Amino acid sequence: MQSVPGHILQTSEALQSAGPCTMILFGASGDLTKRKLIPSLYNLAVSKYLCHDFAVIGFARPVMTHQEFRDKMDQEIKVHAGTNVDPTIWAWFLERLYYQPGEFADPAAYQALKTLLVEVEERHKTLGNRLFYLATLPSFFAPVIEQLGVAGLVEETGDIWRRVIIEKPFGRDLASARTLNRDISKVLAERQIYRIDHYLGKETVQNLMAFRFGNGIFEPIWNRRYIEHVEITVAEELGVEQRGPYYEEAGAMRDMVPNHILQLIALTAMEPPTSFDADAVRDEKHKVLKAITPMSPEDVLRRAVRGQYGDGMVQGTLVRGYRAEDRVAKASNIETFVAMKLFIDNWRWAKVPFYLRTGKRMPKRVSEIAIQFHRPPLPLFAHAGVERLNPNFLVIRVQPDEGISLTFSAKVPGPKMELGSVNMDFKYSDHFGAQSSTGYETLLYDCMIGDATPFQRADMLEAGWSVVQPVLDVWQALPPRDFPNYSAGSWGPKDAETLMEQDGKHWRNLA
Ligand code: BG6
Repeated sequence: MQSVPGHILQTSEALQSAGPCTMILFGASGDLTKRKLIPSLYNLAVSKYLCHDFAVIGFARPVMTHQEFRDKMDQEIKVHAGTNVDPTIWAWFLERLYYQPGEFADPAAYQALKTLLVEVEERHKTLGNRLFYLATLPSFFAPVIEQLGVAGLVEETGDIWRRVIIEKPFGRDLASARTLNRDISKVLAERQIYRIDHYLGKETVQNLMAFRFGNGIFEPIWNRRYIEHVEITVAEELGVEQRGPYYEEAGAMRDMVPNHILQLIALTAMEPPTSFDADAVRDEKHKVLKAITPMSPEDVLRRAVRGQYGDGMVQGTLVRGYRAEDRVAKASNIETFVAMKLFIDNWRWAKVPFYLRTGKRMPKRVSEIAIQFHRPPLPLFAHAGVERLNPNFLVIRVQPDEGISLTFSAKVPGPKMELGSVNMDFKYSDHFGAQSSTGYETLLYDCMIGDATPFQRADMLEAGWSVVQPVLDVWQALPPRDFPNYSAGSWGPKDAETLMEQDGKHWRNLA
């Protein structure tokens, strides 16, 4: 389809810069700070969404002065934000960057942080509003929040707000997620807690609601009467990189499913909210997650597949298997691939299978949500081989090559009635141009303005863990016997194919 670029409708209320605040980054010497958080804040400054009355304090173990921290970030921004860093904006940003060394469990470090905070707040007129970002190991989430409470750093008075963003993984199963929720709720009110899932910051993911509820034509057909099944793929080319120890604890299921993938399912399957108020949206997402049919152990054996990559070729390069990765056990039974079939028990989705698959070391990086519609009810075109034609697919490409396409049948020109499959394709980049963003900008901005819509509420998070817990239990009781069971650079183990074949289907060919 030819795109008509240029005409971009905007809501009447233009986005405004966030209000004054100081952001405190716990884990400031880590990867996330330099790769995503500082570049996102810089991007927000460039687009004028950051308030002038703003400051950042990095908090981490290594001993560094403010200047050393600034120098370090100055080196990193060139690597992570490209070569086009605006010197004036970056200088403005560096002037409001501070550092506080300290151990996460040391009460004295929080007293030092408090002293620095008061100074910084006065100098930059940030009005006492504080945004804490916990980019630490998960085992520190509860202890850091406890210390913040003890030091009196998160109490809200009058209009002053104090918010805490918590990175994933939030718990490693249902029980630990519940414990963590309970522990942090001793210090923070739910409205102060922002559990981040960076998938919800992706433009295409945010667009799901606009697409479904901002258009009149999709909602009437968005149900079991018209939709045959939904297929979600989140494939990565990369292996576990330097994250062996983390991955050995997590595995593909914990790493990707209860958070990113279930959020994609929730956005695809939720009912229209009554407003875009954070809780109205999150109530609907929660309802969908709660409606996912719990799996019995027999269901797990039939409907959940795990895999681990062995040696293989990815994009023409020979790569080693998972068990040979750095700091991974030689006989590790951790899964690097998951496929599942889920059902949602409600009127809209009864009996519509939701297939999902995610894995490391797949042939290419691709994430998409594909909605397959029912075939026409009458074999009117039987003579033209209609059964062999592709069904109608609506595909939401999350990344890369973000866009939406609709596949439908059309007559092939010529004297005979022959049908072919064609695509209507919308590409984000054609219409809106390439955006320079890490995906965290919108989430940080939302947190600064107090919009919790794209953040996980405690009940949603626990509902997500409830979906995967039966699978984790069965997998733990029955260690895999065939790992590694797929070659790096393939689309996963044979059993993943079987999962579809037993329903007379195949995964979409994404080659
Ligand atoms: C993270 C996972 O949450 O998401 C990683 O821990 C994964 O293992 C990453 O690679 C994928 O994110 P993205 O934005 O690259 O699709």
